[in-house]
Amino acid sequence: MMLLSSGTIFKSLELFAGHGQWSKSLAQKNWQTIVRDILIDSTHNVLHQTEQLFIDKHIALMDAVHFGLCCRTYSLAAHPPYRSPKHLRGLPTLSPKKRRRVDDADRMLQLVVAWFLICVRAGIAVSLENPLTSYVWRHPTLQVLMKSVSDNGPLYMVKTCYCMWGRRFKKPTAILCNYSELFHIARRCPHEKHSVKLQGNLTGRLGNPYPEAMCNAWSEALCLRAAVRRG
Ligand SMILES: C[S@@+](CC[C@H](N)C(=O)[O-])C[C@H]1O[C@@H](n2cnc3c(N)ncnc32)[C@H](O)[C@@H]1O
Ligand SMILES: [Zn+2]
Repeated sequence: MMLLSSGTIFKSLELFAGHGQWSKSLAQKNWQTIVRDILIDSTHNVLHQTEQLFIDKHIALMDAVHFGLCCRTYSLAAHPPYRSPKHLRGLPTLSPKKRRRVDDADRMLQLVVAWFLICVRAGIAVSLENPLTSYVWRHPTLQVLMKSVSDNGPLYMVKTCYCMWGRRFKKPTAILCNYSELFHIARRCPHEKHSVKLQGNLTGRLGNPYPEAMCNAWSEALCLRAAVRRG
């Protein structure tokens, strides 16, 4: 139960939440959670100004914020591809529809980076997750974030694999965050083979839900971090 003797209740915000397992694990530890995803409600679209105002209003009140940023156009597995190492902002040959998709994704990344910085500066535990091979990690917008936070303490890249949390496929993923407690969930896959191979769009629009065991361990790391910060 995450209630300090002072009666403090911890608060979290999850954007691009999908199945919302990250928030569910925190809610089980009595955190107050705000869960946002366009599939929960169309008004949760981060590209809309009303949603941006909602996030601006709540973000500074949080103890933890997580962005499970949609990786569709950043995925190395996208066929045909949207980007390449040389064209991180989108291939010049994209159709108008795909160009719009890439531009929307880059706008979302810009917003996420701005909110991530607000959290870092306010000392709020913040994280951004994307597949290990995602073009997000090489994107110029993210490079700007890496450079601008150095004055506000270190950032960490925590790597883990879903197979280490009960899934039958590997799915290596990476989490950029500002709290070292998250190394609690760092895992390297030792397996030679997996019984399931994730390919292309097999994961569907909702992406692949975070394993419950991973979120439980993640929420423990956040409880530790929040308790130290708020004393
Ligand atoms: C990779 S999935 C997140 C999966 C999640 N981490 C989980 O464990 O279920 C990305 C999510 O971003 C949401 N999304 C995509 N575009 C969005 C937008 N413009 N505003 C808000 N959410 C959006 C999708 O609905 C999707 O659920
Ligand atoms: Zn494995």
